[in-house]
Amino acid sequence: MPSVRELLLSGADLPSDSARRDTEILLCHCLGKSRAWLYTWPEKAVSAECTQRFRQLLTERRAGLPIAYLVGERDFWSLSLAIDGNTLIPRPETETLVAWALELALPDDAKVLDLGTGSGAIALALAVERPVWQVTALDNSANALQVAADNVARVGAHNVSLLQSDWYQAVAGKRFDALLANPPYIDCEDPHLTRGDVRFEPRSALVSANRGLADLQLLVEGAAAHLRDGGWLLLEHGYTQAPAVRAMLYEAGFDKVDTHCDAAGLERISGGCWHAD
Ligand SMILES: C[S@@+](CC[C@H](N)C(=O)[O-])C[C@H]1O[C@@H](n2cnc3c(N)ncnc32)[C@H](O)[C@@H]1O
Repeated sequence: MPSVRELLLSGADLPSDSARRDTEILLCHCLGKSRAWLYTWPEKAVSAECTQRFRQLLTERRAGLPIAYLVGERDFWSLSLAIDGNTLIPRPETETLVAWALELALPDDAKVLDLGTGSGAIALALAVERPVWQVTALDNSANALQVAADNVARVGAHNVSLLQSDWYQAVAGKRFDALLANPPYIDCEDPHLTRGDVRFEPRSALVSANRGLADLQLLVEGAAAHLRDGGWLLLEHGYTQAPAVRAMLYEAGFDKVDTHCDAAGLERISGGCWHAD
């Protein structure tokens, strides 16, 4: 039976900038152990069953499958979320949206809406940080909502409700203190769609018409009917789309329009405040 050290070396050829890290994650997943355990017990023999499972995952990783889909989870904010091929893999830049939402001056018992919740990442991060907020999370994908429901149970959040809806359709007549969305915003011709993890993510979570701006436009146009006076709309978008999204927000009558940058310094989240004058 191979040792932990030998199995770690067998992933050196993974076509990834993070081959070593990927190999560690896959081996930890198969063994049900931490990285610290791998380095504490490098000589330990690994069972035939576990070795076979690990080698299968390495093969799938060589074919490009994202690590998050192979291990079925991804960390986001303070949470470890279940993920499968029906959901976008939550990204660190979306944590910038969560951080901005937590800075907003909202009522203690704010009602917030996460549009296009996918795995439930944004809704759940907010729900655990603000247990008295009432968080509604919607998506038009029943399969994604099943993953979100699993994550609501996994996190033990009691203040999140899920809805199947085409954007604002199922919340007609309802108003919120904040509307938050990381909608599809990639142009269908964007070459990034043919590279890396995005090749395996649902197109419906990624691609939008009108150079990636169509869903952002729908969300901005529908927001006024769903915001309380002084409520906020925050939208994640592509790093070149900030001027277009700010223009949409001004055009729709928002004020305090602003953009926040992600950790790489790229303009990724734009938002504004709605006043019912
Ligand atoms: C970029 S993913 C974001 C997922 C999650 N919020 C996150 O940040 O990881 C966009 C999500 O919007 C959903 N979506 C796409 N079109 C939609 C629509 N018309 N109505 C509701 N949800 C939609 C997709 O199913 C997908 O889950």
